[in-house]
Amino acid sequence: MIDLSGKEAIVTGGGSGIGRGICSVLALAGANVLVTDISRGSAEETMRYCSYGGDITAKELDVTNEHSIDKIISEHIKERKKIDILVNNAGIIGSEGWSNREIPNSQDWAEVYEVNVRGVVKVSERVSIELKSQNQGKIVNIASIAARQGSPDSPHYSTSKAAVVSWTQSHALQMAPYNVNVNAVCPGLIWTPIWESIAKKRSQFGGNLDTTGLEGKKLFDQTVKSWIPLQREQTPEDIGNAVAFLASDIAQNITGQSINVDGGRFTN
Ligand SMILES: NC(=O)c1ccc[n+]([C@@H]2O[C@H](COP(=O)([O-])OP(=O)(O)OC[C@H]3O[C@@H](n4cnc5c(N)ncnc54)[C@H](O)[C@@H]3O)[C@@H](O)[C@H]2O)c1
Repeated sequence: MIDLSGKEAIVTGGGSGIGRGICSVLALAGANVLVTDISRGSAEETMRYCSYGGDITAKELDVTNEHSIDKIISEHIKERKKIDILVNNAGIIGSEGWSNREIPNSQDWAEVYEVNVRGVVKVSERVSIELKSQNQGKIVNIASIAARQGSPDSPHYSTSKAAVVSWTQSHALQMAPYNVNVNAVCPGLIWTPIWESIAKKRSQFGGNLDTTGLEGKKLFDQTVKSWIPLQREQTPEDIGNAVAFLASDIAQNITGQSINVDGGRFTN
């Protein structure tokens, strides 16, 4: 079991799905976790869900809002004195009504880039000021296997996640002189609100797999069956376990990497 006792962790988008799984694994490993989300209520729900762990708190944080980022990080340093782990998990698949459009529109491109790319960079850059002065820290970005392949129906999302993989490489080099590791996890297929929205779109317009006549969880299950060599979906806790490893001292010589947790979908 990975031991993160005494570590101070901040997770973005921690109120749902994968973010909640990451918070729960970090808490179980003994970390004190600040759960943040654009929705305060869902961050607080995750806080209650993780109440078995270290010191868990919840705050509202919109990763696109630089003022709010600065306020939350400054408050955190004042209260907790340090940041050991940042997990950039917040992400979206499209703007309002995305599932009902065959091709993403300019609003989808703009909002997805603002959250998935600019949001990761903005939070990373603010937190990096603290990590540099501490001369230690770990950042884990949540990218996606969507970064590993083209996508006919969601190129805006795939390219945003490829940008996260590339940012991870660049930021790792920027932060290496300060003893900070920067890595990414690329989750495979996890049944969360994001995937519900993908299933809704693909049941209407198809995708890069024949799922004719299927919708919702059945469409997702068929995708898992066709795509995943290990023949099982991934879970939020699978992603949390990879994050906990990368955030721990036993991963001290891993940086700039993007690790697939996808049941073997991509093997290079
Ligand atoms: N579900 C999958 O199969 C899958 C696969 C690969 C990667 N991912 C990635 O994992 C991450 C989590 O996705 P999920 O599937 O758990 O989705 P989700 O919709 O369940 O969770 C996303 C969370 O991010 C929050 N959020 C959205 N915009 C925000 C903002 N501007 N600021 C702060 N928080 C914001 C939402 O409120 C929500 O709590 C995302 O980055 C997603 O792209 C998901």
